[in-house]
Amino acid sequence: MGQRAGAVRPGKVRRPLLEALIDSGARVVTSGAPRTVSVCLGEERSTAGIGASADGLSDWGGGRMRLASRKEQVSRAEFKLEELFSLVGAPEVTSAVDLGASPGGWTRIVHGLGATSIDAVDPADLDPRVLGLPGVTHHRTTAGEFVNGPDAAPVDLIVNDMRMVPHLTAHTMVEAAPLLRPGGLAIVTFKLGTNNPVKQADESLDLMAPAYEPVFVRQLQHNRQELTVVARPRH
Ligand SMILES: C[S@@+](CC[C@H](N)C(=O)[O-])C[C@H]1O[C@@H](n2cnc3c(N)ncnc32)[C@H](O)[C@@H]1O
Repeated sequence: MGQRAGAVRPGKVRRPLLEALIDSGARVVTSGAPRTVSVCLGEERSTAGIGASADGLSDWGGGRMRLASRKEQVSRAEFKLEELFSLVGAPEVTSAVDLGASPGGWTRIVHGLGATSIDAVDPADLDPRVLGLPGVTHHRTTAGEFVNGPDAAPVDLIVNDMRMVPHLTAHTMVEAAPLLRPGGLAIVTFKLGTNNPVKQADESLDLMAPAYEPVFVRQLQHNRQELTVVARPRH
C-alpha cells in the first residue's frame, strides 16, 4: 500500500481492504506472499492493482521492509546492502574493494560474508570497530587514485556507495572493472537526486555497459533516491 494523499493515512485504507479480502476468502499475510495488492492514493484519483510480489518494490504490508537497527551497525547505509541481499542473496566473497567506505557499514557487512581481505577506500575516517576487523585495510584516498594506484589487486567483489554524481560513479566503475576476477560481482548505488533521474539512470547504465552486464537494477526501499545496480564483469 502506497502513498498518502492529503489527510488520508495508509491505515485507513488497509483495514477495510483487509476485511474485504478476508471476507472474499483470501488468506492475507504481512510478507512473503507470491502476490501483492497495491493501492496508490492520488490527489485526484487512486489506483489499485494486484501483481507478482517479485515485480514490486516491496512485498511487505505498507510497502516497507522493516529492518531492525543493531548496536554493531556502524551506518544506516548497511540497510541498503541488507535489503539487497534479502532480494538477490548474498554473494560468496574472499576479497573485496569498498569504494566510498566511510564510516564502514558496507565493509562490516562484506566482512561478515567471510571476506578475508577488504580494501576500504575513502578519504574520510573508518569507524574504529571496522578498522579493527581482521583483513580490513583503510586506504585514505579517492577511488580514482586507488584504482589506478599500486595497492589495487584482483578481487571477487567491488562495492561502491560513493556520494558522487552518477556519470562519475559509472566512470569509476569502468576504471575499476579490470580489478574484478572473472565471475566476480559489482554492487553500486547511483545517487540520482531529483534532476531528471530516469535520464541519469539510463546514461549511467549505458556508460557501464562496455565493462559490465547488469543482473539487477532497482530502487530499493532503503534508498529511494538511488538506483542499486548489481553487475557482472564482461571479461
Ligand atoms: C554514503 S557514504 C558511504 C557509506 C558506507 N557505504 C557505509 O556503509 O558506511 C559515501 C562516502 O563516499 C565517499 N566519497 C565521496 N567521493 C569519494 C571519492 N572520490 N573516493 C572515495 N570516496 C568518496 C565520502 O567520503 C563518503 O564517506
